[in-house]
Amino acid sequence: MPRIIEPFRIKMVEPIRITSREERERYLAEAGYNLFCVPSDAILIDLLTDSGTGAMSAGQWAAMMRGDESYAGSPSFRRFKHAVQDIFGFRHVIPTHQGRAAERILAATLVRPGDVVPNNTHFDTTRANLEAAGAVALDLPCSEAQDLSAPHPFKGNIDLEALARVLDENPGRVPFAMITVTNNGGGGQPVSMENIRTASEICHARGVPLYIDACRFAENAYFIHARSPEYAGTPLIEIAREMFSYADGCTMSAKKDGMANIGGFLCTNDNAVAQQEQALLILTEGFPTYGGLAGRDLEAIAVGLYEALDLHYQRYRASSTGYLGEHIAAAGVPIVQPPGGHAIYIDAAAMLPHLPKAQYPGQALVVELYRHGGIRSVEIGSVMFGRPDPETGEETFADNELVRLAIPRRVYTKSQIDYVVDVVKEVYERRAEVRGVRIVEQPPMLRHFTAVFEPV
Ligand code: F0G
Repeated sequence: MPRIIEPFRIKMVEPIRITSREERERYLAEAGYNLFCVPSDAILIDLLTDSGTGAMSAGQWAAMMRGDESYAGSPSFRRFKHAVQDIFGFRHVIPTHQGRAAERILAATLVRPGDVVPNNTHFDTTRANLEAAGAVALDLPCSEAQDLSAPHPFKGNIDLEALARVLDENPGRVPFAMITVTNNGGGGQPVSMENIRTASEICHARGVPLYIDACRFAENAYFIHARSPEYAGTPLIEIAREMFSYADGCTMSAKKDGMANIGGFLCTNDNAVAQQEQALLILTEGFPTYGGLAGRDLEAIAVGLYEALDLHYQRYRASSTGYLGEHIAAAGVPIVQPPGGHAIYIDAAAMLPHLPKAQYPGQALVVELYRHGGIRSVEIGSVMFGRPDPETGEETFADNELVRLAIPRRVYTKSQIDYVVDVVKEVYERRAEVRGVRIVEQPPMLRHFTAVFEPV
């Protein structure tokens, strides 16, 4: 196999700023050691998220120029709807400004207080929207996902037995089940075709619709292609079509595999549900032919969805994410194995065993990666998922203390990823010196965005 290279060349560049350690120390103090509060022009390599941070193609920019900004009946919507239906196959396509708006409309339409909604792992906004509608959001990852370092080709799978049990124990109280592809909350791991198919059979045998959280559907299709021998010769678009053929609808953030900087959609095959969803859409997002989007955004997504399904692009994407994971793992850094599609997750608790959970090893590592090399990452651990008990004030902690290095699409070159490898390795070598942090201020909800920390 010849060396896998970036299947694109660079036409336009964006300077990034190299700061001194003293400057970064000052930015950290001013931001309360919270990287969400550091200005992005003080970041050298930004691995906070792969959401909306990708580079668009010449084809997307060209399509944007023909964006039709009419309030109703825009041909840009026609092209958007055509692309979504061609790939996803659902009857109704409802544009939204991003993924969480689709989640909110879905939850407001189908969820009643006391309902239960299972998923392999809910993303935080999905969970928050379901909980806000009064449901219990249940995570049912497969058992292989529990061992972070064990390689398994489809660690994103939902636990099928648990799914059947939840449906049987809650008759009439599960408005829909979900599967997130790839499983972002569970390390960016893919879900197998067989798992989606069987989950669909389990749901449909009990009259429960299945929705796919489709954000990274093309990366998932690539992993099915690469890891399931029976799909080795199948084009990614056909794999994607088959994945969605088992579902009754989907939510999508086009900021990921839509290859766009903003956008999303909600799909369903149910006419009555679509009608209610469109009514809600008009209330807060916009008329059904634009949702919360400009016509030019719809055009960019219509092109981007196909670009995400290009085999050469996905091969490069998986190999560059894997390259980062393999090189830091070879130096001893504990990561979630195997490398995910859009990100590498460092097991900060294993890397910094001298820091107790109460000193937030994930956040401590996030701070150190910035201080040492100007790299921004994100804690996915007790800062994000823990919370003080409302009565006792005592802190509850997350199961895992992870740090996610998310790779924006088509943005960083191999030498920039090599730089990230070097910085992570250097921090790893001096890991015993990394100090913990404590929380000095926090809001009652979604605290990771604004909490203020100080070094212990
Ligand atoms: N579902 C998944 C699996 C996601 O990863 C995200 C966003 C959403 C839904 C919500 O989409 O941001 O367009 O409203 N994930 C980003 C991340 C923010 O960094 O992982 P959105």
